[in-house]
Amino acid sequence: MKKAVSLFSVALVFLFTLLFIGISQQSAKGSTGYAGVDACKGCHEAYYDNYARSVHSKKAIPGSPANRQACESCHGEGAAHVEKGGGRGTGIFAFSKKDTAKEKAAKCLACHEETKTLAFWNSGKHKAEDVSCDDCHSIHSGGAKFVKAGRSEVCLPCHKDIRAMVRKQSHHPILEGKVGCADCHEAHGELSDKLIKADSINELCYKCHAEKRGPYMNEHPPVEENCLNCHNPHGSNHDRLLTDRVPVLCEQCHEDGGHMGGAPFTKFATNAPGITTSSVFMVGRSCLNCHPSIHGSNGLQTANGCSFRQ
Ligand code: HEC
Ligand code: HEC
Ligand code: HEC
Ligand code: HEC
Ligand code: HEC
Ligand code: HEC
Ligand code: HEC
Ligand code: HEC
Ligand code: HEC
Ligand code: HEC
Repeated sequence: MKKAVSLFSVALVFLFTLLFIGISQQSAKGSTGYAGVDACKGCHEAYYDNYARSVHSKKAIPGSPANRQACESCHGEGAAHVEKGGGRGTGIFAFSKKDTAKEKAAKCLACHEETKTLAFWNSGKHKAEDVSCDDCHSIHSGGAKFVKAGRSEVCLPCHKDIRAMVRKQSHHPILEGKVGCADCHEAHGELSDKLIKADSINELCYKCHAEKRGPYMNEHPPVEENCLNCHNPHGSNHDRLLTDRVPVLCEQCHEDGGHMGGAPFTKFATNAPGITTSSVFMVGRSCLNCHPSIHGSNGLQTANGCSFRQ
């Protein structure tokens, strides 16, 4: 019995020793925990001010940082940083270049996992390419929705090929601010190809060009198939965002057969049977002189007596 008691007390002493070592090691590391927004305010006035003006400081929104750990919702525990009188390399999370995209995104996704437009972030191209939230957003100096530079301008430094296209002679008015990259693309990720904000390319185009949807009595099959058979979505050196100039564009598909009388499409039958001639209509708008309703038509309908389909 006595032996059992002394064994027990030895074990107890051993346990207390372990506990003591644990505590003293922790105090050697310095304070842990949250310091609270008031601690940050005095030393980081500018950061505090723009935080205070932003949606993240709104107590009225239940899940906002204001109702969590304020600054430290994103920057992590700051007590050690405060205790050391601030400075770099004190363990506070700074969204610096050495932090990975994944680490940075995790801070934001702690709250934004449920945000609707971020539903496909994990399967999106940008995540796969290590693009991080703060490549496009700046919490302390961004504009609307914390977007850096501007809703479309933010995309251009990384997408130089697209930048060149939207500067071409014919282009969607993106730099003019009438259409944004984000009207057509979901930068956060989408199930569709190329992050398109619609189930198909044509459905995307119909959102703003509803009149092209038809149905038409006389349909032009490549139009229903894919608008990009003839158009570039960003820009082109040919009129109307066309991928090539008319008639070269048309001849990519219409080279066999020809107009009535066997004349190639670039020529036209005269009244004399069997004789064809270059059509006077081939100048200017070329094929479109006689086939103006290129997206489809409902019957005969043009001024010069020609139509998409006769
Ligand atoms: C006693 C003043 C002081 C307090 C209090 C303070 N900071 Fe700092 N903090 C600094 C200084 C100084 C720097 C270094 C800035 C520099 O070099 O430009 C710094 C740097 C930082 C950095 C960058 C750290 C790095 O490793 O690069 C972050 C993020 C930061 N502070 C956030 C906070 C937050 C959040 C709080 C409140 C919890 C806070 N600070 C409280 C003075 C302070
Ligand atoms: C503690 C929770 C929390 C954290 C962490 C957080 N946010 Fe938010 N954020 C919110 C809430 C709540 C809103 C307002 C409601 C909404 O739009 O979802 C919001 C709004 C936004 C908005 C929309 C702003 C607007 O004007 O419509 C953006 C963009 C945003 N956050 C980006 C970020 C980024 C980037 C990070 C990481 C650096 C981040 N948030 C971290 C909670 C958080
Ligand atoms: C490739 C650029 C890009 C990246 C990366 C990016 N965003 Fe965005 N984000 C945008 C743009 C642009 C908007 C504004 C969309 C608009 O105006 O329609 C936006 C809007 C938002 C909004 C506002 C909600 C909404 O749908 O309008 C939230 C919240 C948000 N982003 C959070 C995040 C978080 C969190 C991350 C990282 C996990 C992130 N974003 C990464 C470009 C990006
Ligand atoms: C919603 C997330 C979020 C909140 C809330 C937030 N920050 Fe930040 N902070 C960031 C991000 C992201 C950066 C990186 C630069 C940027 O996006 O503007 C940053 C950068 C900083 C920096 C500069 C770090 C450096 O390396 O120089 C300081 C200082 C800072 N924040 C302090 C604060 C303070 C103080 C508060 C509260 C008053 C606060 N932040 C609230 C996300 C946040
Ligand atoms: C930090 C650099 C960076 C920024 C900023 C950026 N992207 Fe990207 N984006 C990439 C990289 C890298 C890829 C993958 C390679 C590629 O397709 O060019 C990519 C791919 C894409 C793709 C093709 C996706 C696919 O599935 O093939 C689209 C669309 C796109 N980005 C749109 C945008 C839009 C819209 C914005 C602005 C809101 C934007 N990007 C901002 C780096 C960036
Ligand atoms: C009017 C709608 C629209 C606008 C505005 C738009 N895009 Fe696109 N974008 C598309 C379509 C449609 C595709 C798919 C092209 C394809 O499948 O060949 C695409 C493809 C892309 C690709 C992938 C290119 C490739 O060859 O893989 C990138 C990157 C891209 N867009 C970036 C941008 C950027 C950046 C902006 C703003 C400067 C922008 N887009 C504006 C419709 C648009
Ligand atoms: C978010 C709205 C929007 C979407 C989506 C959209 N467009 Fe447009 N589109 C416009 C606007 C705005 C103009 C300029 C109209 C104007 O200036 O009168 C335009 C102009 C055009 C033009 C004429 C350009 C010129 O030089 O006159 C063509 C062709 C075109 N769009 C094709 C497309 C195609 C193809 C798609 C699908 C890939 C598409 N658009 C998707 C808004 C959109
Ligand atoms: C077979 C080639 C072809 C296809 C496919 C095509 N287009 Fe066009 N599109 C043209 C031509 C050619 C013009 C120039 C017409 C003119 O100048 O009269 C044009 C002009 C336009 C214009 C500007 C002038 C106008 O009529 O409003 C818009 C917008 C447009 N197309 C949208 C679309 C959309 C949306 C789709 C897909 C539903 C589409 N196009 C598919 C050949 C095509
Ligand atoms: C991507 C392929 C493609 C392009 C480009 C194209 N077409 Fe067509 N077109 C077709 C197909 C397929 C048909 C249906 C089969 C046929 O009649 O050859 C058609 C039919 C037609 C018809 C006959 C319509 C009918 O109802 O009989 C005319 C006229 C026509 N196209 C004119 C043009 C003109 C003008 C252009 C250039 C602006 C053009 N096409 C560009 C594929 C194309
Ligand atoms: C002077 C007016 C005129 C011009 C210019 C013209 N067409 Fe036609 N096109 C017609 C007429 C009228 C028909 C119907 C009778 C026929 O087939 O000859 C027709 C029919 C067609 C058909 C349908 C043929 C079939 O087998 O049903 C196609 C495809 C076509 N044209 C393409 C073109 C292309 C491509 C160009 C430009 C290179 C062009 N057309 C220029 C007037 C014209």
